[in-house]
This record gives sequence, C-alpha cells and structure tokens, in this order.
Amino acid sequence: MKKFSSLTEFIEFRHRILWEKSIEYDKPTLVVCAGTGGQASGSNDVIRVIKKYILEQGLQERVDLRITGCQGFCEMDPFVVVEPGRHLYPKLKMEDVPRVIESAVSSNVDKELIYKAPRSNKIYFSQDEIPFFKKQTRTILGNNQNLDPIRIIDFIEQGGYAAAEKILLNPDPEWIIKEVKESGLRGRGGAGFPTGKKWDLVINTASQDKIIICNGYEIGGGSIRISDADLQRQIFRLLGYTDEMIDDQFGHMLEAFEYGTPPHGGIATGIDRWVMLLADEPNIREVIAFPKSQSAADLMANTPSPVADEQLKTLHLKLDL
Ligand code: FES
Repeated sequence: MKKFSSLTEFIEFRHRILWEKSIEYDKPTLVVCAGTGGQASGSNDVIRVIKKYILEQGLQERVDLRITGCQGFCEMDPFVVVEPGRHLYPKLKMEDVPRVIESAVSSNVDKELIYKAPRSNKIYFSQDEIPFFKKQTRTILGNNQNLDPIRIIDFIEQGGYAAAEKILLNPDPEWIIKEVKESGLRGRGGAGFPTGKKWDLVINTASQDKIIICNGYEIGGGSIRISDADLQRQIFRLLGYTDEMIDDQFGHMLEAFEYGTPPHGGIATGIDRWVMLLADEPNIREVIAFPKSQSAADLMANTPSPVADEQLKTLHLKLDL
C-alpha cells in the first residue's frame, strides 16, 4: 500500500488523480447499485456479467465499472447508470446487460432498455430528468453514486481528506475549533454533544498533558441521572438548546421532574468487553453468548446451514442456485 510521507506528497497525488480523471472524462462508466435492495434483486449477477463481458471482449480500456451503495431508486433494481449522460437502464435482465455495455462503448443509448415513465412510456434519457430524482436534493448521501466505497481513490476524488488537509495547512487550534463549532457537528452517542464545544473544553483545561480518547471501549459506563428540572434545563442550555427547543423536545421529562422524581442512576460493568480484551478478540460479538459472529454465523443455532427438502416444501419455497 502506498504511504505518504508528507502533506505535499498527498496533495500532488490528489492533483494527479484528478487530472487523470479529467482526461478520461469521456470514457464511459457503468454504475451499478449494490445496496441491499440491489443485491436482493440480482445486481451481483449484473456485476458478474459485466466483468465477464468486458474481459471476454477486451473492453478494459474502453469502459469502467463502478459499484456503489444504494442510490435510492430501489424499486428499479437491478439497474445500471451509464456515465457520461447518466442513462439509466432499470430492472435489467442478465441477457440484456451486454446490450447496455455495447451502447455505452459506442456512445449510444438503447431506447428499448432505457428508463421510461410507467404510464406514458415517455423516455427519460438522463437520470436527472426522471421525476423521482428531479424532485430530490440529495445531501448527506448525495455523493454515493460517484464512488465505490471500497476504492479510496474515489473518495479522494470526491474531496475526501480535504478537511484534514486544510487543518494541516492551517494548524491553528482556535481556528479549527471555531470551524468545527460552526459546522454544528455533534456526537452520535445519544447525547448529541457539540464536538466543537467538547474540543473547547479540552483546550481550555489548565493542564500540560491532555489526553483525548476517541472511540474507546466503554468498560464501566454509568451515571447518576439528573432529577432536578432546573439543573437539567441549564445543561440543555449549555448544549446549545433554546428554551423553546427544550420545552418542545424534553418538556414532558422536565414536567415529570416537578413531581419529585427521586435521584436514580445505574452502571453497566461491561464484562463482555473485558472478556473480549482478555481473550484478545477483535470484536465483542466473538464473546457474547448468543452472538452473530463477524461472518454473520449464529454459533448457537448453527446457521446459516443447509435446509432440508421437507422444510422447503412446508414453506412453499424453491431453491434456484
Ligand atoms: S438498493 Fe439499489 S437503489 Fe437502493
């Protein structure tokens, strides 16, 4: 694996891959959704057929394949989007896949296979014109069609590590904290604590050595819960909630406190995490009594395992492997 020894090396690398992409702009790419719905509808078979056809026909230099996560149009799976042009071919049958590849390579559109409106049969040449997509502004997952999640180069092309690069070029802690505060980033562990505020607390702590533990293992978590409405309200304000938001989202709890909720608390010792560490296992699931292992096997039920013909008959299922 390539390792960068300086920021400059990384920036040069990013410029190079962006340049390579720009000169290959017209090279067609077949984009296949391999999200859960896609796989359930046969996208893995589509991918296999595409790879086989490209190899057999020697098309490696003339067409690319990109495998992505869910693009939202699950009811049309398995589908292929051809870039440039973003021509969408829905509900593909395996025997039709070579036609899509050939149209892509010859910069044509297969009008029989391309997406059409269900009732009017109107042809939509570009995915962006299809009403399902046209009315959406995809934000958080908007880029997922542009990258294969296991190709780090795709991620860098889409601006991956740009924040780290910016920080390394401008290593001013105050500025970094201000940016993070303005971004509104919050923790996802339930409390939603503002990350910028957390970093602010660290930087303002009067200590020479500061230790931040990210994503550590919680071994003995617990707390005495707040049962005083005024104190709880002050904490919410510190977290950045307005009184209106507090009343709206937590009013029921604050009102309940007024009736004299007794102090209460709890602790979870996290024995399973100790066992995981002592057994030198990489994942907690390996030491839980009724786990699914990392490979999704259930050791207690011994599943997945072969199914008897009799069971298939009872469930009216037929295997077609
Ligand atoms: S799983 Fe394919 S579009 Fe959602």
